[in-house]
Amino acid sequence: MLLIGRPHGALAGRVAMPGDKSISHRCLMFAGLAAGESRIEGLLEGEDVLATASAMRALGCAVERDASGVWSVHGRGVGGLAEPAQVLDMGNAGTGARLLLGILAGHGFASFVTGDASLRSRPMRRVIEPLAAMGAAFTARSGDRLPLAVRGRDDLLALEHISPVASAQVKSAILLAGLHAAGRTVVTEPLASRDHTERMLRDMGAELTSQTLSDGRVRVTLEGQPELRARRFTVAGDPSSAAFVLVAAALRADPEVVVEGISVNPLRSGLLTTLLEMGARIEVRHEREVAGEPVADIHVRAAPLQGADVPAGRAPSMIDEYPVLAVAAAFARGTTRMRGLGELRVKESDRLQLMAEGLAACGVTVAIDGDDLIVEGGRRTVAATVDAHLDHRIAMSFLVLGGLGDAPVRVGGAEAIRTSFPAFVDVMNGLGATIAGDA
Ligand code: S3P
Repeated sequence: MLLIGRPHGALAGRVAMPGDKSISHRCLMFAGLAAGESRIEGLLEGEDVLATASAMRALGCAVERDASGVWSVHGRGVGGLAEPAQVLDMGNAGTGARLLLGILAGHGFASFVTGDASLRSRPMRRVIEPLAAMGAAFTARSGDRLPLAVRGRDDLLALEHISPVASAQVKSAILLAGLHAAGRTVVTEPLASRDHTERMLRDMGAELTSQTLSDGRVRVTLEGQPELRARRFTVAGDPSSAAFVLVAAALRADPEVVVEGISVNPLRSGLLTTLLEMGARIEVRHEREVAGEPVADIHVRAAPLQGADVPAGRAPSMIDEYPVLAVAAAFARGTTRMRGLGELRVKESDRLQLMAEGLAACGVTVAIDGDDLIVEGGRRTVAATVDAHLDHRIAMSFLVLGGLGDAPVRVGGAEAIRTSFPAFVDVMNGLGATIAGDA
C-alpha cells in the first residue's frame, strides 16, 4: 500500500491514543499465566498484539473480545499452558516473539515460532543464550534467527544474568522464564529499560524487587513459581504512537493539539524531555495513575525548534522514537546529534540506515557517525519516495515529514502501520493533516 504525506497547514484538536503496544502484549501473556479470568480494557488491536492473542489461544487460553471492546483471557496458571498444535506466528512483533520464548522455555513441551520477513531477520541470541542457560533447548536458523524450535522444561533453573544491552525484551523474557524456575532469578542491565513487566507482575502478586546500583546499572530480582492473580487491566495510551502526533504538533499546532491519556512513565518519556530541550511548547497536564501506570494529557502548541545533542544514556527511554525525532530535527534550526543508536540497527528494520537514506532522499543533510545520527535542520525538503521495509515507524515518520515539509513524501509498504497504530491516518487527518492513498 502506498500512502502520500502532503504538506499541510495548522493542526488542532484533541485525540486519544490507542493502547500501549508493550503493555498490551504483556496483558495478554501475563493474564494467560494467571489463575482465573482477567479482563483488559483499551487493548491495542494492532496486528502485533493480535498475533500474541492468537499465540495465547494456541497455548490453550480462551481469549475473547466482547462487543464493547473489552478482552477476556482465561489463564491457566504459571507453567499451565498446553503444547500448541501449530507453529506460533508472531508476525512483525519482536516483543511478542521474545517474551513468548521466555514463557515457552518454562513449559516441558516442544513449540515452533516464526514471524514475518522482518522478524525472521532479527537477532534472537540475546534471549536464546540466557534461556538455554536456564535449561531450555533451541534449534534456530543460522544466526540464531526465526523460525526456531523450543523444547522447554518444567524444572527450569533460576538464573543470574548480566545483560550487555538495556533491553526490556531481554529482561522480560528472562523474568518470564524465571516465573517458572524454583528460586531467585536476577537480571542486571546497564541502564534502566521500560519496567512494565516489573510493575505488572508485582501487581499480580509476584515477589519482585528492582534496585538501581551505585554505577547506574539496574538489578531486578524475582522469586520463582509465584501464583499470579487474574486482574482487570486498563491499558494506558501509547507514548510511542503519540510521538508522531507530538512531533507534528510541536511544529504546527495552532492553537493547540491535546493528546489524551498517554503513559508518562519516566522510562518512556525521553522524547518529551528532548522536544522540551529543543524548545517545544509542551505541557504535561492532569497527571494520574491508570492501573499502576502514570498517565497524563499532553498539550502542544507550535514553536520553532532548535537542534539538540541527545545523550546516549537517554536511548532506552525513547528507543522507538528516534525515527520521528530525526524528522523533528530536520525542521529544527541547527544540528541535532542523536548518540548511541546501535540498537536501532536491530529493530523492525535497520532504522539508523533507513532514516539516513530516507532523510537524504527528502533533501535533508544527514550523516551516520559510528552509532550516532546527525541531522542538519532547516533546509527545504523535496519530493521523495521511501519504502517502509516492513517497519511501521519508518512509514509513519516519513508521512509526518511529508506533512511538515515543502513537498509530498510517498511511502511504499505503508500497510506496516497496522502493526501498531491502525488509526494513524484518521487521527492525523482529523487534526488537519492530509495523508492520502495514491488516487
Ligand atoms: C519493547 C522494548 C524495546 C522496544 C520495543 C518494545 C518492550 O525493545 O524497542 O518496541 O515492549 O519490551 P528492546 O527491549 O529490545 O530495546
